[in-house]
Formats: sequence, C-alpha cells, structure tokens
Amino acid sequence: MQSITEIKSLRSQIKAWRQAGLSVALVPTMGNLHRGHFSLVEKAKTLADKVVVSIFVNPMQFGANEDLDNYPRTLNEDKQGLADLETDIVFTPNVETIYPNGLGAQSFVDVPDVSMGYCGGSRPGHFRGVATVVTKLFNLVQPDYACFGEKDFQQLQVIKTMTRDLSIPVEVIGVPTMREVSGLAMSSRNGYLSAAQKATATVLFKTLNECAEQIKSGNKDFIALSNSAKQNLEAAGLKPDYFEIAQRDTLKAATLDDTQFVILAAAFLGSVRLIDNLQVVI
Ligand code: PAF
Repeated sequence: MQSITEIKSLRSQIKAWRQAGLSVALVPTMGNLHRGHFSLVEKAKTLADKVVVSIFVNPMQFGANEDLDNYPRTLNEDKQGLADLETDIVFTPNVETIYPNGLGAQSFVDVPDVSMGYCGGSRPGHFRGVATVVTKLFNLVQPDYACFGEKDFQQLQVIKTMTRDLSIPVEVIGVPTMREVSGLAMSSRNGYLSAAQKATATVLFKTLNECAEQIKSGNKDFIALSNSAKQNLEAAGLKPDYFEIAQRDTLKAATLDDTQFVILAAAFLGSVRLIDNLQVVI
C-alpha cells in the first residue's frame, strides 16, 4: 500500500493507472476506521482495479461547538487495517493541502433541498462542508466509483444529488450499514460510549424497527409514529434530536401515497450524538 500525503504524488499515480487502462474506486473517510469502513473498502475492491482510501478529518463539516479537536484519530491502526485489505493508496492530506487559503477563503458546494432538515437542520453548514470536500476528493482522484455508508443516509443522498446536478463522472455507491450483534450501527463515535451506554444505545435501532413494522402493517399516521418513537427514546434515557419518516429518494416528508420510505433518527446519549436510519418498502 502506498501512503500519500501530497496532491502531486496522488495525481501522478492515478495518471499512471489511467494510462494502463485501470479503473479506480475511492472510499472517502475521516479515519478511526471500523468494520463499517472496511466493508466499504471491500465493496470498492469488487468494483475497480485500484482502491484509494482518503483519511481526512474535514474541519469544514464541523460546527463551532462540535467535536473536531476531540474527533478520534488513529492513523497507525487505520493504515494497518487498510494494508491488511490490500488497499492500493491511503491518501492522508493535511488541512493546508486541502484548504491552502484557509476555510474563510474557500469556494464551496451547496446542495439545496436534500441538505435541509434532519442532520442539515441540526448541524448548519455540515453538508456544505461534506459536499465541498467530497467534490475536492472527486477532482483529485477522479474515481470511476465512490463508496459511502448508508448509515449516513442524508449524506449519501446529498452526494448522489450533487454528483448528478454537477455532472461529475463518478458512480456513487451506497453500502449497507454494518451493525454490532446488538443492532447498534457501527460508528467512530461509539468509541465515546461506555459499555452500559452501548447497551442503552441499542434502543435507537429497536425503535426504528418498531416504527418500520407499524408502517408495513398500514399505519400511516407519520406524526403520531414519530412522536411515539421519540417518547420511547426519551424513556430509555436518550434525548431525541429528530425522528422522521421521509420519502426514501427525495427525503421530503412522507405522504400517504408513498411506498418507499426511510426513517431517519438522531439522538443524544449523554454528549454523544447517535444517528441511524431504516429503509421501508411497502
Ligand atoms: O462520512 C464521512 O466520514 C465524511 O463525512 C466524509 C464523507 C469522508 C467527508 O468528509
């Protein structure tokens, strides 16, 4: 595995692969890799001849009161895991490489509509930061494929929309969420949870499943379902941020005519913000 930090070296290796007629898949990450990330790399390997994984904790997608400084950084372990999977390149630029003129002077990409509400409502500017850095990574790597986890379902829809709207020649692939045996969605932020909190956190996935069952059995009182789910989370000791039932592909509020839904949820357990989602087709 090649470890690359500079754009020039990255571009020159990609150019050599292209001249040899090889296809490329990109897996953008912020590091602290777990089995969820490794499943993205495994998927990428099935799609393309060469796989590039980027590790960059992107300051542009963190709000002023968020956990940028404390975000877990485990570069040595991450590189070992990626080498074990025979990743071709790990690209680990620093902030100056990605934002040489500082964040204030940085051009940005805004993706309307689908960035609104849910995590976009609770974290203003978050999806602008995600869309901007992913555009930069797409331009640097020029991949044929890019893999993202379905756990960040709104992020996946933002990136798919942006790619389509801006005619970026990459196929965006969503990869199903990896879960602990308990059902808890794997996340770098789970590392902040105690064992007891991890057990409590499983209520999020259970509540999503209960809501999905209600929808499948014909209950389309989406507001009541969402309120009852929030009460359930509160009773278990979580502080719901949102729990909403949306149209799967547009993320607009679900209507009685819809048949494809996604239930999107975020809740705080102590200071840790958990997110999860579940797709439902009836
Ligand atoms: O999902 C993430 O880890 C990040 O939001 C991403 C896509 C790597 C952009 O920084």
